[in-house]
Amino acid sequence: MRGSASYTFCSFEYIMISRHDFLARISAAMVATNAVRPLLAWSSTEAVSVPGKDGMILRSFRFLDLEMPTEYFNSWLTPVSHFFVRNHMHEPSTLDPMEWRLRIRGEVERPFALSLAELRKFESHNVTNTLECAGNGRAFQKPHVPGVQWQRGAVGTARFAGPRLRDVLMRAGVKETGKHVMFRGLDEVPGKVPPFIRSIPIEKAMDEDTLIATRMNEAALTKDHGFPARALVPGWIGAASCKWLTEIKVLGKEFEGNFMNPGYRLPNHPIEPGEAVKAEDTHSMTALNVKSVIATPSDATTLKSHALHIQGAAWAGEANIVRVEVSTDSGATWQPAQLGSEQSRFAWRLWSHQWKAPKAGDYVIMARATDSQGRTQPATAAWNPSGYLYNAIDQVKVHVS
Ligand code: MTE
Repeated sequence: MRGSASYTFCSFEYIMISRHDFLARISAAMVATNAVRPLLAWSSTEAVSVPGKDGMILRSFRFLDLEMPTEYFNSWLTPVSHFFVRNHMHEPSTLDPMEWRLRIRGEVERPFALSLAELRKFESHNVTNTLECAGNGRAFQKPHVPGVQWQRGAVGTARFAGPRLRDVLMRAGVKETGKHVMFRGLDEVPGKVPPFIRSIPIEKAMDEDTLIATRMNEAALTKDHGFPARALVPGWIGAASCKWLTEIKVLGKEFEGNFMNPGYRLPNHPIEPGEAVKAEDTHSMTALNVKSVIATPSDATTLKSHALHIQGAAWAGEANIVRVEVSTDSGATWQPAQLGSEQSRFAWRLWSHQWKAPKAGDYVIMARATDSQGRTQPATAAWNPSGYLYNAIDQVKVHVS
């Protein structure tokens, strides 16, 4: 797949794997690949062979967390088979699409419930969105922070489709008192773990690109990505886009629960690495940071050719990428990269840069992006206790022989 720049439909992308199936399949994979040690660990850096998801990096086995391999930063649309998966708890083990209902209630004039067939009658809208987990890059934070140790690939771009959330809310008639919109997922909550419930402000809920997505890359959502319907809050941290939606409730204020507070919050002011922050000095995270990742060449590789094609992807949440620069001399000088032609309001831009190494030797290649809000990637990411929104300049070390 390395080097491939196109999105292809593969039949395995649309297979729904239940958790029990997954466990059975992965047990077989463990035997086949002798990958027992990484599977038993909470977090691994090794790729595992999961049928239909070859090459995905298993970050957590207890609740399925899969990271996209770096070579997929070469593709504008990420195949569903290699789109990262982030689950805080078990996926729903039984979900009958005929029985499924989406309830809309709270601060609305006319509460109602929709079957899947009724939801599909709303006009469908397409949004190509880069979805990134707030914890992507956490593994690079110094000092170390706890949590799933994502490196680069808890991010992907897909073409989502489904009704606009605002069309559904307008049918219910939002009252003047409605200020936030809460999503509840159908996750299976283990023991005393609080359920996955979060809310977004009414303004973002009413944005023409905020969806109740039922499709991803021209096919029905797979179970891992929230079948039969998920929220799609474009440009915002992945946690805003609740999977396996079952309830939408309009609230008078931001939802108060574990995944809003203490979860997914940033310090109001820069803090020293390792410093603790009081809850009252934090705010809820919304849009993503400006960021770019180098897809090729790979880190720690020896290259025979002096002519290098350096490429990757850059994104900035609700802002546009205006510039990507590449350095081949450890950051001393920078050259503009060429931005790819494919673009959409909330999607990453592919970029590339041709470079000829003047002589054999070791080189540090770096990439930094700048966005339409004037933000440029920093040399060192702002540290926070949960390692959220890591966006330091990416770098790879290569040896040209
Ligand atoms: N929705 C539910 N119901 N449960 C979850 O655990 N994880 C969230 C979000 N929606 C989650 C969820 C997080 S943290 C992220 S980053 C995205 O889903 C990941 O979406 P994906 O698994 O489709 O890539």
